[in-house]
Amino acid sequence: MSESGDPPAIETAGLVKSFGKTRAVDGIDLTVPAGTVYGVLGPNGAGKTTTVRMLATLLRPDGGQARVFGHDVVREADAVRSRVSLTGQYASVDEDLTGMENLVLLSRLLGHRKPAAKERAATLLAAFGLTEAADRQVKNYSGGMRRRLDIAASILNTPDLLFLDEPTTGLDPRSRSHVWDIIRAVVAHGTTVLLTTQYMEEADRLAGRIAVIDHGKVIAEGTPGELKSSVGAGSVHIRLRDRWQREQARQVLARVLEAEVQLDADPVALTARIMDGGSRDRAAAQASRALAELDEAGVTVDDFSLGQPSLDEVFLALTGHPAEEHDDEQEVAK
Ligand SMILES: Nc1ncnc2c1ncn2[C@@H]1O[C@H](COP(=O)(O)OP(=O)(O)OP(=O)(O)O)[C@@H](O)[C@H]1O
Ligand SMILES: [Mg+2]
Repeated sequence: MSESGDPPAIETAGLVKSFGKTRAVDGIDLTVPAGTVYGVLGPNGAGKTTTVRMLATLLRPDGGQARVFGHDVVREADAVRSRVSLTGQYASVDEDLTGMENLVLLSRLLGHRKPAAKERAATLLAAFGLTEAADRQVKNYSGGMRRRLDIAASILNTPDLLFLDEPTTGLDPRSRSHVWDIIRAVVAHGTTVLLTTQYMEEADRLAGRIAVIDHGKVIAEGTPGELKSSVGAGSVHIRLRDRWQREQARQVLARVLEAEVQLDADPVALTARIMDGGSRDRAAAQASRALAELDEAGVTVDDFSLGQPSLDEVFLALTGHPAEEHDDEQEVAK
């Protein structure tokens, strides 16, 4: 129970779901406070979609309990359904209809009269930057436009709880940050968001709390800051002006910091974890020496920070494998 006495948005205890011999969800306990973004972070096959489907009443748990705003997802499924909305990993809009037609149709299915449905559709299309594309068939949308339309469709009626299952997987950085803005706006209107993601950065930026799951189990839970500080060491993050200087920068950093240097997904970014368990001051001194040497080597640094370890590093420390590692065996059945 929260301080105000209202039940949390989600509360699960020992939630279990198996498919044949695969225990997709293996005893998950979660508490998601209302009014927040809660991140569920895990690699392919971790059990994210299965968990979301049980919470959204689309799949019956094999064991344990789950309540949404105090309603049991099995015994009070209708009450749960009236308060939630789900944007699945695989979209549900109709490819042959236009963006406008899709939203109007779904809004009509939700029981709105035609003028109200049209008005709501137009408002959402505008809010999501889709006004110009409103009369184009969805099959001609880009991935980012499509994802925005999916989210628009799921908030036609403002749900109390919105499940977003990997809303930005496969999107370019611009579309991704657009979707992040949308998520922030939805939460500002009072909706609770359960967001699954494989991206540490996404959970870090959006979520107040994060559960890290792997093989159907919660392996860590806390605020992004708590998860990071549980790993300890500091990291130097650098962004270069010129991507072609990255290899040179990597070599300088590896030598000066005696650290493993990771090339980030961003082609101009590098991260070096300071292995030395020494003090923060020492880490800062080492980092500034590295900066000086990069300058001497003629490498232009646009952005530099000495921060806590990234959630990627946290994941690696917790599980012994990187978060975005693909497991081919599990790729087939999402
Ligand atoms: N309908 C199904 N039938 C059989 N096995 C399934 C089914 N759905 C999921 N699984 C298996 O359960 C495990 C968890 O899958 P789930 O889809 O929940 O993972 P996920 O965390 O959503 O992964 P991804 O990031 O790839 O979407 C995987 O091993 C998967 O192969
Ligand atoms: Mg999934």
